[in-house]
Amino acid sequence: MDKTEIKEELYQQLKKLDEKYDAMGQDLSSYLDGLLYSDYLTYWDYIHLDTLLSLQNPRTSFPDEKIFIAYHQITELFFKLILMEIEQIPGEEGNTEKFIMRIDRINRYFQQLVNSFEIMIDGMEKEQFLKFRMSLLPSSGFQSVQYRMIEICSTDLRNLMNVSYREKIDPDGSEDVLYDYLYWKSGATELATGKKTLTLNQFDEKYSEQLKNLAKKYRETNIWQVYQKYHSSNDLTDQAIKSMRELDSVANLFWPLAHFKSAVRYLHRDPNVISATGGTNWQKFLPPKFQKVIFFPDIWTEEERNDWGKGWVMKEILNEK
Ligand code: HEM
Repeated sequence: MDKTEIKEELYQQLKKLDEKYDAMGQDLSSYLDGLLYSDYLTYWDYIHLDTLLSLQNPRTSFPDEKIFIAYHQITELFFKLILMEIEQIPGEEGNTEKFIMRIDRINRYFQQLVNSFEIMIDGMEKEQFLKFRMSLLPSSGFQSVQYRMIEICSTDLRNLMNVSYREKIDPDGSEDVLYDYLYWKSGATELATGKKTLTLNQFDEKYSEQLKNLAKKYRETNIWQVYQKYHSSNDLTDQAIKSMRELDSVANLFWPLAHFKSAVRYLHRDPNVISATGGTNWQKFLPPKFQKVIFFPDIWTEEERNDWGKGWVMKEILNEK
């Protein structure tokens, strides 16, 4: 092909590329050489399939343990997608349509997790589960840092506090103080001894500083704050509230209840309770009606807040088993 045969479109593309590389003091010609020698991209390299499929490493030879590992990993990937949406919200403060779009994306991810939780509830043999879980002590999904990050980026720390401290501790206090009163900190107490669980101590050692810093960063820019400052007074408010009510329900009622259902299925043996891997009094810790975590309290009526999580547990879970 001689010079005169280069199509106009290609010429324009080369010109733009030349300008792009020139701006960075780079030589386009060397990069074009590189392109000449580089391999075509494959699906398996792009997705890192071999790495992905090498990450399910059970501690026992019970086949169902792989289901348990893979489903936790799937959940963490959805948590990652949820956090990606949350991180973009503070940069789009004036745009209510985008705000609603992001909340709806988050809702869709949570909905997938709620709908697929049956994989945990019905998808493993109880006998296998009760054995392989013993080799996982003292680790627990309780130690999912992304779950805590979603909570912290969604609302003020005051709404994540243990109910019994909400009146006693100044909810406007510093993150360093409030952190110790979060619902899951006081929930992680060993049934037998009343001491903080090893599961919690391990987690705090690794993540407490990171989470306190995250809370400081999101003090003014968590979803609830952004809504109140920028989106609570325009034409799309009703729609925004609808999406936020859905988020509160799916994150603080439906996911926790689906999750609780799996604990009931594997750890509840009338009249005895099998202890959890993380050592909590899970029957008092997991149901939303006890923790009353509500990300956006003011969009609910007092009655709705008081009845948070009631009814469903009795009807769907305990009567069923
Ligand atoms: C058979 C399946 C499951 C059972 C029986 C189960 C059981 C439990 C129990 C008993 C707790 C209380 C803490 C403890 O003492 O360990 C807990 C907490 C937790 N688990 Fe699971 N779990 C299951 C699956 C999952 C999955 C798939 C995830 C996804 C990441 C997960 C994430 C969590 C989280 C985030 C907490 C803390 C909840 C909170 O603080 O409100 N769990 N789980």
